[in-house]
Amino acid sequence: MTLHDARPLPVVSLQQASKRFGKGPGAISALESITTDIYDGEFIALCGPSGSGKSTLLNLMAGIDYPTGGHVYLLGNDLATLDDTRSARLRADAIGFVFQFFNLLPVLSVFDNVYYPMMLNGFSRRVAHDQVMEMIEKVGLTAHYKRPPTALSGGQQQRVAIARALVKRPRLIVADEPTGNLDTRTGQEIIDLLLSMNQELKTTFVISTHSHQLRDCARRVLEIEDGKLKNDVHHL
Ligand SMILES: Nc1ncnc2c1ncn2[C@@H]1O[C@H](COP(=O)(O)OP(=O)(O)OP(=O)(O)O)[C@@H](O)[C@H]1O
Ligand SMILES: [Mg+2]
Repeated sequence: MTLHDARPLPVVSLQQASKRFGKGPGAISALESITTDIYDGEFIALCGPSGSGKSTLLNLMAGIDYPTGGHVYLLGNDLATLDDTRSARLRADAIGFVFQFFNLLPVLSVFDNVYYPMMLNGFSRRVAHDQVMEMIEKVGLTAHYKRPPTALSGGQQQRVAIARALVKRPRLIVADEPTGNLDTRTGQEIIDLLLSMNQELKTTFVISTHSHQLRDCARRVLEIEDGKLKNDVHHL
């Protein structure tokens, strides 16, 4: 990049990123030479058959795992070359993760599940209170903030997980099949919530999915097959 290059810095940039699991003849090539840039504010569906490499790709983007070839840059930083402390801090500040099975802490209330990432950052419950409650309101759960997630429906639990992922206002949310465990109607409500958070907070979303609903709502669709990027389609 030169000084005169006016393009913004991608949130995440993959440069010929590959991932192999294992060594020798039994190794599995999960991703092969993926090159793509993801920019601020995008809403991207990551599609492809089971085993095509979607989760592996999301894990590389989020720095949960490292490529065995090529590079992954988060806000211009090659995560593999940062020391563990700097990499962990950069990831914790820049990225939120949403999972298929919600991954909430069942013994904590909705409030404390959403507060949890802020607690890890050293914020007291009192200082974090308004920010946590604001996020709980955005996902429509104000009436339930004292309840444990076990007392909520699947769709409501995923809303808690989304509030938890967004509470520190990360640049990027990586979501691995967030509607995969929900019925069609609840899934659509979650998609609508993610779209509205993308518009309101300008958060970037990369969402793996088997759902046509989600694919149809996305402004950009990345399609992978056998670990290779097959298609990168932008819709207006
Ligand atoms: N930890 C691992 N060890 C060995 N192989 C793995 C590991 N994780 C993934 N794989 C393999 O890598 C390939 C891609 O897996 P991945 O989970 O990324 O696919 P996916 O597109 O997310 O599938 P699904 O739609 O079923 O979630 C598969 O062949 C899988 O078996
Ligand atoms: Mg997967």
